[in-house]
Amino acid sequence: MELTYEHTAVTEEKRFREFDVEKIREDFPILKRMVNDKPLVYFDNAATTQKPNVVIDSITNYYTYENANIHRGLHFLSEVATELYETARLKIKEFINAMSASEVILTKGTTEGINLLANTMCRADMLKDGDEIIVSQMEHHANIVPWQLLCERKKVKLRVIPISDEGELDMEAYKNLINEKTKLVSIVHTSNALGTINPVKEIIDIAHSAGIPVIIDGAQAVAHQKIDVQELDCDFFVFSGHKLFGPTGIGVLYGKTEYLDKLPPYQGGGDMIRTVTFEKTTFDDLPNKFEAGTPNIAGGIGLGVAIKYLNTFNFADISSHEHMLLEYATEKMLEIPGLRIIGNAAIKSSVISFIIDGIHPYDIGTIIDTDGVAIRTGHHCTQPIMQRYNLTATARASFAFYNTKDEVDIFIKALYKVIKMFSS
Ligand SMILES: Cc1ncc(COP(=O)(O)O)c(C=O)c1O
Repeated sequence: MELTYEHTAVTEEKRFREFDVEKIREDFPILKRMVNDKPLVYFDNAATTQKPNVVIDSITNYYTYENANIHRGLHFLSEVATELYETARLKIKEFINAMSASEVILTKGTTEGINLLANTMCRADMLKDGDEIIVSQMEHHANIVPWQLLCERKKVKLRVIPISDEGELDMEAYKNLINEKTKLVSIVHTSNALGTINPVKEIIDIAHSAGIPVIIDGAQAVAHQKIDVQELDCDFFVFSGHKLFGPTGIGVLYGKTEYLDKLPPYQGGGDMIRTVTFEKTTFDDLPNKFEAGTPNIAGGIGLGVAIKYLNTFNFADISSHEHMLLEYATEKMLEIPGLRIIGNAAIKSSVISFIIDGIHPYDIGTIIDTDGVAIRTGHHCTQPIMQRYNLTATARASFAFYNTKDEVDIFIKALYKVIKMFSS
């Protein structure tokens, strides 16, 4: 029996299915499980999202029926695997509206995408001694540390856009930071710790008017709003598959051809070369130039299927459901004595960071876990944000489109239980 991609995929004619959260939940088997004898309430979606059956099945099917290395063999299975992997790249291209599939580089994730850029920009002399890179105070460590490693090699300086008490970027400060030494702007689209959705189009336009390229860290944006890289006109856009209902260990670096062509390879090895002799190696075209070695084939296929699944929904429905959860939970949380929300930007994603007077965030997380409620506690890989608000940690609830108002009620009840435990 010949098995093809369609065996693992959702049908595409059913675009924009009706937004019925109970039906959607049936697609995600983990949401049915019990944790500590209570139904799981999964509010840690900013850390990683759960996977629908179609994604899980695509990985099982790949290893069961389709497993072979890609781009290398002329045998049947190798052709099948290659087609599946390259079909996934095409799906990603359409999903973010890249001009061409060769602008879609498959990586391990957001972190690897930014490290690839820092490393290759440095070697390409796009960044030289004395240059400056603008980031913001609300970056994830993945958009700070790679640049600091680069700064150790070259005398490149990081300039930081400050944030307000509400958690919004100071756009005037941003404009003032730009000068003739600025060679790059690298900014988070949506903050994982504050929920702030940044005005990325405006940030890009301001940088471009000074001829400066822009990287957008889209890790927290892709699952929650439609991304069109051509409309944004960003020069690079990075994200991770696992935050988009796809597998871990796979991600995307989108780059404009004009920049990707200028950058040298990141790693050397198989699959990225045209010719090799001991005297000289010539490199393959995009995207292969940046994809040395056997990639995460199952991960790439799974990400393609996750996108195909997401394409069955209207993003406007996803956004309005998540926004409803954000508003409902915010209102209920603000009624809790001593609770303070960290990150109150006017335009927010479905992420709520909070603290409660006199109770350590770890205690909040541990106690509500006994009620089956999974949230994240800690610095969220954003220590500069914690420093900005004079905190060491927050508790964070983050919603996805499969979460419900009833789950918010369970979460709120669990928070009251925490308060009661600490007051008695
Ligand atoms: C805004 C942001 N950037 C980057 C990352 C790093 O993503 P990954 O660990 O998948 O590489 C994360 C992960 O939480 C994130 O939220």
